[in-house]
Amino acid sequence: MNSTSDLAHTASKCSPLEKLSEEPEDDGIEHLIGKVHDTDCLELMRSMPTGSMSMVFADPPFNLNKKYTSYKDNLPFAQYMAWTEEWLTEACRILKPDGSLFVYNIPKLLTYTSAILNDLAEFRHWIAWNSNGQPLGKTLQPAHYGILFYTKNRNSKFYDVRAPHKTCRKCDAYLKDYGGKEYLRHEFGYQVSDVWDDIHRIRHRSKRIDSHPCQLPIHLIERMILMTTDEGDIVFDPFCGGGSAAVAAKQLGRRYIGADIDKGYCDAATERMTQAKPVKNRDAYVSIHLNKIVSMRDIDIKLRNKKNGRTKKTNA
Ligand SMILES: C[S@@+](CC[C@H](N)C(=O)[O-])C[C@H]1O[C@@H](n2cnc3c(N)ncnc32)[C@H](O)[C@@H]1O
Repeated sequence: MNSTSDLAHTASKCSPLEKLSEEPEDDGIEHLIGKVHDTDCLELMRSMPTGSMSMVFADPPFNLNKKYTSYKDNLPFAQYMAWTEEWLTEACRILKPDGSLFVYNIPKLLTYTSAILNDLAEFRHWIAWNSNGQPLGKTLQPAHYGILFYTKNRNSKFYDVRAPHKTCRKCDAYLKDYGGKEYLRHEFGYQVSDVWDDIHRIRHRSKRIDSHPCQLPIHLIERMILMTTDEGDIVFDPFCGGGSAAVAAKQLGRRYIGADIDKGYCDAATERMTQAKPVKNRDAYVSIHLNKIVSMRDIDIKLRNKKNGRTKKTNA
């Protein structure tokens, strides 16, 4: 992180003078916070001050002719990419100097997206979210969606996140063997990598809000929020759909701004956000699914240990 080449890279993306002019300007966005806006996200972003968002999470339409209520998901490819470049440029502009951008899409479209983003921000990770797709014939079976993780600068906010150790469904034994060195096993869980295979897609219609065809699991987005933001930071979701990011932000005590061009989706997202409550386990915000902690920050586990007067092992 602090090697000479990394520092040189940072300098090319953001000089100290630029940094000063990018100081957060919280004025001018208060009226947007805590709401889902029934509007074109590009227009909304253009109205936002530079350097005002801690995190942007974007799950745009994939141009695969999905049946949205308002949006026609079948633009000519060149038009789709030109539009993508427009909103990505705005998304990077509104990020705080230590802010992060996540873009969720199918791998093919992410290769084009990444080419645009490499000129606008710092590449951090291509996260593969294992989603067990259907065989398509004459191709490898598509088994992941990609999540591009970029930051405005090299020195962005980042927290290690842990997930519970994987165990056998039948006998509950740990799947990873430490070769007799059990003491190496962390007391809560493993450090999350760039392959996420412990979070499942929402496949069943009954688990989705009415009419939205592609809702993401709340705990998928919570993992990104825990990794890159603190309590009170602002998360912006330009394509909020059914409002999974709105719920995730509220459950983790972050502030939220969302947009969707469909009024029905905005209303549904607002309703879900209103119902959501902060989720803490003792003093720490955690991501919970089916009554189990699925993501927790390493720093919070350490703080808890310190409070309990333990230096090494404890159950989270
Ligand atoms: C893939 S869905 C997002 C789903 C969402 N992440 C969820 O978990 O429910 C994309 C959404 O973008 C919306 N949309 C399309 N074009 C838009 C635009 N220009 N501005 C704002 N929203 C737009 C669509 O109406 C659709 O709800």
